[in-house]
Amino acid sequence: MGKIKLAFIGCGNRMGNHLNELKNFDDVAFVGFYDVRPERAQDKQARVGQGKVYDSLTEMLDDAKPDAVYIVVPPDQHGLIEPEVISRGIPFFIEKPLAIDKEVAIRLAEQVKEKNLMTCVGFQDRYLTFLPTLKEWLVGKEIGLVEGGWCGGLPRPYWYFKYATCGGQILEQGIHVVDTIRYLFGEVKTVYCAGGRGIIREEAEGYDLHDFATAVFTMQDGKIVTLQSALYDPKGCHNGLKIYAKGAKIIYNLRDSAEIQLPNETHFYKKTESNDMRINRSWIDALQTGDRSLILSDYEDGLKSVLIGLACNESVFSGNVIEL
Ligand SMILES: NC(=O)c1ccc[n+]([C@@H]2O[C@H](COP(=O)([O-])OP(=O)(O)OC[C@H]3O[C@@H](n4cnc5c(N)ncnc54)[C@H](O)[C@@H]3O)[C@@H](O)[C@H]2O)c1
Repeated sequence: MGKIKLAFIGCGNRMGNHLNELKNFDDVAFVGFYDVRPERAQDKQARVGQGKVYDSLTEMLDDAKPDAVYIVVPPDQHGLIEPEVISRGIPFFIEKPLAIDKEVAIRLAEQVKEKNLMTCVGFQDRYLTFLPTLKEWLVGKEIGLVEGGWCGGLPRPYWYFKYATCGGQILEQGIHVVDTIRYLFGEVKTVYCAGGRGIIREEAEGYDLHDFATAVFTMQDGKIVTLQSALYDPKGCHNGLKIYAKGAKIIYNLRDSAEIQLPNETHFYKKTESNDMRINRSWIDALQTGDRSLILSDYEDGLKSVLIGLACNESVFSGNVIEL
């Protein structure tokens, strides 16, 4: 294949991250930019000086005839865009969390499967340079407890403050740690999640999220994994994972490094390349070659992480343990 012709649906901050990587690849061409806020599409088009800004999604798909598209819209905007892309048989890269509505995500996964479309979900952490080494090291180790964390301040995109538009912090952000847990340890069997409010009192229009939550996952192999999540910027929360094995402690520092602490030695692994570069390069290579094994999470796989995030929401509101 020659240059892969790319078009973009949603031209905000995250799409800018992808563009920063893609513009360094010499085997891609930029053919279309669409955003409900046209100035954002214009801004991204100007960065690369190629392609056309469209004010209609379907016109872009039919006129620019992209080989693949990027769907990088807020979490509540999924459901109507994808069928336009899928029905035209266009492979797509899509940002997590895929959807905030379970039925929508499942329906879209079925449509993708029917067309046997190539897809890639933006779970960038899977492309960390040292993660395969860590995964391999963990095989066969006796592990009962794992602690995960994703804590920070309240993000500022206009859609972040409400469940109805962002889906809550675990589905929106903690999902990266959820996905790493799945990548390292397999599937989740049950989910329980408790959350609380009352710490965040600053002005954030319509804010209705939980300020903090802890989820407990029982894995299919019996491990117990906890995930701490908070938006009030608590001090000392470890973002990433702490894995307690018999005779070893493993610390994964989110998107940065990992340590395997043994009784007499410690192995340290530092990220050597950008995740964003690696996920985009893998996706373009998969499009160029047709080799789907380069894609570490496709729509069908990504849906499993999304269902865990949605189960956290169901549990936090109902108080029930959710079976997956
Ligand atoms: N994988 C990662 O590490 C990572 C990091 C950041 C964000 N994200 C995800 O990327 C997505 C976008 O986040 P962001 O930070 O870029 O948000 P953003 O608000 O900066 O950008 C979203 C853009 O989509 C546009 N938009 C809204 N509805 C649309 C529609 N129906 N059609 C076309 N365009 C539409 C908005 O105008 C905006 O320009 C979110 O789902 C977020 O979770 C992923």
